[in-house]
Amino acid sequence: MYKILQKEKLAPSVYIMKVEAPLVARKAQPGQFIILRVYDMGERIPLTIADYDRDKGTITIVFQEVGKTTKLLAALEEGQYIQDFAGPLGKPSEFDGLKTVLAIGGGVGAAPLYPQVRRMHEMGIDVDVILGAKSKDYLILTEEIKPFCRNMYIATDDGSVGYHGFVSDVLKKLVEEDGQTYDRVIAIGPLIMMKVVSGMTKQYNIPTIVSMNPIMMDGTGMCGACRVKVGDEVKHACVDGPDFDGHLVDFDEAMRRQAFYRDEEGLALHTLEE
Ligand code: FES
Repeated sequence: MYKILQKEKLAPSVYIMKVEAPLVARKAQPGQFIILRVYDMGERIPLTIADYDRDKGTITIVFQEVGKTTKLLAALEEGQYIQDFAGPLGKPSEFDGLKTVLAIGGGVGAAPLYPQVRRMHEMGIDVDVILGAKSKDYLILTEEIKPFCRNMYIATDDGSVGYHGFVSDVLKKLVEEDGQTYDRVIAIGPLIMMKVVSGMTKQYNIPTIVSMNPIMMDGTGMCGACRVKVGDEVKHACVDGPDFDGHLVDFDEAMRRQAFYRDEEGLALHTLEE
């Protein structure tokens, strides 16, 4: 059992939790994730690691209440326990040889981006960051990320703060108008955002890494639930990812797969509310 040491609401329906998990914290690297179960017979869901503290033995997760399991997780309070907390899983992100990176986070995508930006800063890489959200209230971790980036740009759909528009609009401005060049773009967020960004960076010839967060079950490469089509190959996000070449990922198929269990999820939520 894994104790919740801290819990805070970051934005509407978005929570940050610090969990006591010393064995996971000892090995966690930026880009990796955990799979948790809230209770014994519960569903297993993957959540990216937003931070870790090896000395204190803690892992920080950020999640949005979108389905039954995340609602149950959000209902837990400090001092209560999570049944299973397995990890770290997936391959750590790699930054060797990079000098200038543009890191783009959409919504809760800012959470997995945070340890990556910090690691790149430690390695002496110049990182520009674009964070996007529906509105000011939905922006998360801006203050935490800011010290580790060269420039931070904010975009909101409603213009309540920063640029009025999408992260892709800021990307376009930086590259096409300001003439910025980058060795790599890292994009983490909703599938549609990663698809649009990857489409643009393909035209700009900027290598792009996206972080895929499909439905997962065993997290060991055995069940096939997390299949992602990357170029001509079928990969498993849990063991081959979650980072993949954004120019090769079949986002349309990933979006279709994401919708597979919508009816079951609706039913599970309905039962929870009864
Ligand atoms: Fe089962 Fe990846 S979660 S193969």
